[in-house]
Amino acid sequence: MAVAALSPAKLNPGNLLKPRGERLVAALDVGTSKVAALIAIADGENPPRVIGAGVRACNGLRRGLVADMARTETAVRAAMDQAERAAGLEIESVLVNLSAGGLDSDVAPVEIDIAGHRIEDADVATLLAAGRARIEANDRLKGRTILHAEPTLYTIDGVDGVTNPRGFHANRLAVDIHVITADTPPCRNLDLAVRNAHLNVESIVAAGVASSLSILGQEERELGVAVVEIGAGVTTVAVHGGGMLLGLAAIPMGAADITADIATNFACARSAAERLKTLHGAATASPRDNHEMIEIPPLETDDSGESRRVAKAELIAVIRSRADLLFREVAQALGEMGFHGSAGRQVVLTGGGAELRGVADFAQGALARNVRLGRPRGLIGLPEAQSGAAFAALVGLIHYGATSRIDLARTPPRASSRAARGPETQPGRFARLFQQLKTQI
Ligand SMILES: Nc1ncnc2c1ncn2[C@@H]1O[C@H](COP(=O)(O)OP(=O)(O)OP(=O)(O)O)[C@@H](O)[C@H]1O
Ligand SMILES: [Mg+2]
Repeated sequence: MAVAALSPAKLNPGNLLKPRGERLVAALDVGTSKVAALIAIADGENPPRVIGAGVRACNGLRRGLVADMARTETAVRAAMDQAERAAGLEIESVLVNLSAGGLDSDVAPVEIDIAGHRIEDADVATLLAAGRARIEANDRLKGRTILHAEPTLYTIDGVDGVTNPRGFHANRLAVDIHVITADTPPCRNLDLAVRNAHLNVESIVAAGVASSLSILGQEERELGVAVVEIGAGVTTVAVHGGGMLLGLAAIPMGAADITADIATNFACARSAAERLKTLHGAATASPRDNHEMIEIPPLETDDSGESRRVAKAELIAVIRSRADLLFREVAQALGEMGFHGSAGRQVVLTGGGAELRGVADFAQGALARNVRLGRPRGLIGLPEAQSGAAFAALVGLIHYGATSRIDLARTPPRASSRAARGPETQPGRFARLFQQLKTQI
């Protein structure tokens, strides 16, 4: 194998591993409960092949944001170290996931004059350069970090929904550019924590973008689907349709809130509550739960030192009441993003919280939509320990890095000489685009 033969010199994942055109892709998911690292080799044709993985528990984040630099840095270092040792090489730069920090998505329309000639690559480049300039000049985005700016569908002389405009004659060429932004300080802090662990951040990728790549099929993405990623501290809701991400929302509530509720309700330690949740917990109730008793370990400060027994139904009631709160917020976010009607029926749950027994059934009832569980797929050699729903974003980052894409936040197209027209990004554009896609389905 080309990589195994390399000495542990510093390697940039962007490097080509000649002669087979292989590339290293390294990913880091810095989450509220854990930091996970993955190293894979991608050749552009076959599924990426995992050569190293590492995980380390981390409590340096609050609700998806770095709150303790030293703890985060230590966990990043340990997770990547484990992955590097397994891969037998050192990584220089990584793709990193962001699931909070004021993520926002928008559509920036841009248009240029073609004067009736056949559209060529140069015209598309001019259009995209104009789009980039327009986004950079947008006052509403000032002070925010642009994570992604991906061209979506083109419009030729008012005919919209064109995937590839090259070769057509037209007077005017337009495109909607999908822009995902985040507050700048959280991005800087995440970048700093990773850099302190001696890794360069190649890109910060929004959570909804990463996870969707590992758990959704192309057809689902086309027809309309919402991904609800329940992390420990944050739940992200990402709406897809027409093959692209149409909307993104982050709810500051997650599976760690269930643990906290259990600890408070039964006066036990968080670690005991976590065990109760994963071992006996569920989001669906059955009459048997009234008769099945479970043991609650005492707090260290409890002088009696005796554990108590409660009906499993009590544990499940606590879990269900938090799940109810969470899915109310999810339903509201879906509504605000225009996820209705025939294109708004399918929901995929992922993130560690989706591993809670019965949560898909619960969500199906609470959201009145079809709900399935999404675990990451599409990589060769993904270790069992990283194949649960908690690793959807991590695996998605590898897919992200393995596929070539046009992202104006990264690849500046050639400068433009033609004047661009079109309003600045508008919040209402999303609903319109989603509506437009729905009517095409
Ligand atoms: N089998 C299970 N049953 C219930 N909850 C589970 C199970 N497995 C994992 N979880 C929960 O999933 C959460 C961790 O999920 P995940 O790893 O996706 O979060 P994270 O990425 O660290 O956090 P975030 O994305 O919010 O920053 C924990 O709260 C954990 O208790
Ligand atoms: Mg996460």
